[in-house]
This record gives sequence, C-alpha cells and structure tokens, in this order.
Amino acid sequence: MSKFITFEGVDGAGKSTHLAWFADALRQRGPDVLVTREPGGTPLGEQLREILLNQPMSIGTEALLMFAARLEHIEQVIKPALHAGKWVISDRFSDASFAYQGGGRGMDWDKLSQLEQWVHPDLQPDLTLFFDVPVEVARQRLANNASLDRFEQEQAEFFERVRAGYHKRVRQNPQRYRVIDAAQPMDVVKRKLEEIILSL
Ligand code: TYD
Repeated sequence: MSKFITFEGVDGAGKSTHLAWFADALRQRGPDVLVTREPGGTPLGEQLREILLNQPMSIGTEALLMFAARLEHIEQVIKPALHAGKWVISDRFSDASFAYQGGGRGMDWDKLSQLEQWVHPDLQPDLTLFFDVPVEVARQRLANNASLDRFEQEQAEFFERVRAGYHKRVRQNPQRYRVIDAAQPMDVVKRKLEEIILSL
C-alpha cells in the first residue's frame, strides 16, 4: 500500500538532511519511494518557488502562490505516484502554509482552511514528521548558510510564530503527526526515524 509522508519544521530544524536519510532507509526495505518538495516538485512549481523565495509580495499572494504550486504538484506528481503504488515523501506540504503564512505572517487561519479544502479536499498525508526545535537552535544552524532566502532572513519572532503555527496544527489533528525533538544529536534522531520506519 502506497503512503504519503510529509516532513515539516522551521528552517534550520534539519528536516532536509533527515529526509534524505529516511528515504534511503525506506528504499532499502523495498518500497518504490518518490522524494519531492514544496514549493516546487513540478516545472511550474519550481518557477513559483524561485519567485516565492526571492520576491517581496503581499501575504495573500504568497498564500495563493503556495497553494497554486501545490495544486499542480498534487495533480502532476503526488496523486499519479500514489496511484502507481509508490510511496511519496514531500519536503513540506500544507502544514507549512498554516505555519508560515498563518502563524508567521498572521494570515487568517480559516482562509487557509478554505484553500486547503479547495486544493486537496480528498488528500492528506498519511503521516507527517514534524521536526521540532527551539528557535535559537534553528537560528544557530542557519547561521552557517552562505545565502538565506526571503523566509530564512526573517527575525526570531517570526520563527516563534511559525513554530506555534505548527503546534496548533498538531493539536488540531494529533494522530497524523510524529513530533521529533530535533534538538537531540543526529544519531538519536536517526534511531527515532528507524523506529518509525519499522512501525510503517
Ligand atoms: P525549505 O523547505 O526550507 O527549503 P531549503 O531547505 O532548500 O531552504 O524552503 C522553503 C521555504 O518556503 C521555507 O522557508 C518555508 C516556506 N514555505 C512557506 O512559507 N509556505 C509553504 O506553504 C511552503 C511549502 C513553504
């Protein structure tokens, strides 16, 4: 049975590193795994990503473009892969819109719910791994990056609101999430991921 798994966390939580490791470990156990990301995952989505990560714009535009890229991603990539029996792992999905545009930017939560209902009324991840880390830790990790995008350049308060946005999503639907304490050393997190793979 195919599964749709998403990875979430504030910038600097280490989610992308863990995702690569998780996908390899899963492949070794047999499933055909497709790794993709948001915003992006399709040619049009990657063009929208370029704009979203670099161009200033209003909050509503930002949310609409995130969901526009997502609709394309779902129709062109995610659903066809799931129907073909593949496991799909996405580096971010709609939880990121609630956390960043809702929590971070303060966009109305109900409007985001309406967009979610419109864009994917019949699709939710089977499982979401939320890499949770105190904002100071995430900021320190980001400090090593040479170039920071429009979101990564935001202040600590923005990331506190993003993190609170993720926590709100988890509270609203706890059974979908596995919350991982990403401040722990890498090997401890890996052991946790191994357990999750076994449980799948
Ligand atoms: P990210 O996933 O962190 O990629 P990288 O590891 O290459 O930096 O970058 C995507 C950025 O887009 C991230 O800062 C969060 C933001 N984002 C939103 O604000 N809303 C969304 O719906 C999504 C999918 C991402």
